[in-house]
Amino acid sequence: MAVQKEIRRVTTRVLYDMKQKGEKIAMLTGYDYSIARILDESGIDIILVGDSASNVMAGFETTLPITLDNMIYHAASVVRGVKRALVVVDLPFGTYQGDSKEALSSSIRIMKETGASAVKLEGGREVAESIERIFSAGIPVMGHLGLTPQSIHKFGTYVVRARDSEEALKLKEDAKIIEAAGCFAIVLEKIPAQLAGEVARSVKIPIIGIGAGPQVDGQVLVLHDMLGITQEFSPRFLRRYHNLHDEIKGAVKNYITDVRSCDFPNEKEQY
Ligand code: KIV
Repeated sequence: MAVQKEIRRVTTRVLYDMKQKGEKIAMLTGYDYSIARILDESGIDIILVGDSASNVMAGFETTLPITLDNMIYHAASVVRGVKRALVVVDLPFGTYQGDSKEALSSSIRIMKETGASAVKLEGGREVAESIERIFSAGIPVMGHLGLTPQSIHKFGTYVVRARDSEEALKLKEDAKIIEAAGCFAIVLEKIPAQLAGEVARSVKIPIIGIGAGPQVDGQVLVLHDMLGITQEFSPRFLRRYHNLHDEIKGAVKNYITDVRSCDFPNEKEQY
């Protein structure tokens, strides 16, 4: 009889323990069933259904236009493909900033309609009350500090954040505040490596960096960027592991050639 290996699901507790043991956490974004299966089979710890779907899936310039319904569609698809990884879903712009009740009802919709395990939201002290309320309802919350793309129109640019001491101090305080409010982990985006390390050492929960250097507890990248599907986005922190843009283009060109030359389908490829 074949012995089925039991899959140990990644939980917020597992991630907390990983930090205490010094084991690094690997997180990637994912937006659909087929890719989520591949990510999960590869052993990724966290799949973030990021609102970057607004950019890489829907073609918008910013993350602002994506809706809660859109996010729920992506997240439910991802969850169907996952057996092990923790699935975290971004609360999109305009679904939690109003007040903590709005934040909770958006989070409840995500949890009920997708089967995901946690939500993520952007901001520090200004969203602490929402984090508390969501967490009190039993929903794990991931924070997001540093470069917060939903505030692009406030900052006007995607440059490195918290380079000056005032903003750095506020970020350090915000990390402590949202940890106390109940966050199980925090994403730190595009801030100096030294500062990210200080934050990681000052809190007990895992800090996941993107453009935040190596002194944090884990890393996250947008899948389409690290696979080289997107070509136009090339920040210094991005390591491309593949050039899928050219691979896909090459395959499609070969297909077109084969169709036009009547090479496809051949005798074996018909009934
Ligand atoms: O939406 C997203 O992909 C994110 C990552 C950049 C962390 O928030």
